[in-house]
Amino acid sequence: MVRKTQNMYQEKSILVSVLIFLIFRFRTCIDTITLTRPVNDNDGDILVPSVENFALGFFSPANSTNRYVGIWYNKVSEQTVVWVFNRDQPITNSSCILSVDETGNLLLDSGNLVLFQGLVNKEVYSWQSFNHPSNTLLPDMKFGLDKKTGLNRVVTSWKSTGNPGVGDYSCKLEFVGSPQFFLFHGMTKVWRTGPWTGLRWSGIPEMDGKDLYNVTYTNNNDDVVIVYQMHNSTIFSRIVVTESGTMDRLTWQEADRKWLRSVGSK
Ligand SMILES: *[C@@H]1O[C@H](CO)[C@@H](O)[C@H](O)[C@H]1NC(C)=O
Ligand SMILES: *[C@@H]1O[C@H](CO)[C@@H](O)[C@H](O)[C@H]1NC(C)=O
Ligand SMILES: *[C@@H]1O[C@H](CO)[C@@H](O)[C@H](O)[C@H]1NC(C)=O
Ligand SMILES: *[C@@H]1O[C@H](CO)[C@@H](O)[C@H](O)[C@H]1NC(C)=O
Repeated sequence: MVRKTQNMYQEKSILVSVLIFLIFRFRTCIDTITLTRPVNDNDGDILVPSVENFALGFFSPANSTNRYVGIWYNKVSEQTVVWVFNRDQPITNSSCILSVDETGNLLLDSGNLVLFQGLVNKEVYSWQSFNHPSNTLLPDMKFGLDKKTGLNRVVTSWKSTGNPGVGDYSCKLEFVGSPQFFLFHGMTKVWRTGPWTGLRWSGIPEMDGKDLYNVTYTNNNDDVVIVYQMHNSTIFSRIVVTESGTMDRLTWQEADRKWLRSVGSK
């Protein structure tokens, strides 16, 4: 319990330092943000990795004038934000620039924004957005517990479609005998995945397009996590904890230009 609290504080202080790092200084289609290459909201700059599936920049949600730093699908016509940096600290004017210190940072092809410990070792991330999910689980993201650091990743709903602030519903791993994922409404468990059967979570109904991805469950000395991977990286599929308290898989249908929902809970 104590350890958990300490880790929460550690996580918080890391986030705060990242916030200071990024102190609203951000340019054009590049995959690295540096001091000399910031992303400027006024210029409509976005950060795009080499495989151009995602973009990082400033956005306003539907019916809101607040500005947020977020990651969205670059090739999906309907604005679909998968991660928000300043969820509960909206920018209320648009004169924002996002930049970082001289070590730079990078948006990976997977949609993971990573910060480096230094210029030398770009394999070691001092921070990564995949460890701090908003309401969305993306392919290749580890979801669950990092046993070494104690980080237990939590996915939380938006407050509403116009407000990406931390909402009432969350999903996280808990140990109830065996590790299980629970969906919470506040502190109340409203749904669980059921134990891992070796192939899938017994409580998760078969979802459409199962042949599109696989799910791997790992429980070793380092992690208790699930990761799903797409067989075809040009197909966009995500899992979202919604404001109405469901956990859905959504897969982009380019022909219809809409997200196909397969309900995972409730
Ligand atoms: C935005 O506001 C309009 C007018 O009130 C409403 O019809 C629409 O549903 C809202 N959009 C969202 C995404 O909330
Ligand atoms: C925008 O907001 C920031 C932070 O609230 C403030 O420091 C800055 O002066 C504001 N800029 C303008 C042009 O209002
Ligand atoms: C899952 O799919 C990915 C992408 O096709 C593949 O690289 C990986 O080996 C697969 N994992 C398993 C356990 O089948
Ligand atoms: C991947 O999906 C796209 C459609 O999104 C399709 O055109 C392409 O042929 C697929 N690639 C493979 C290797 O199946």
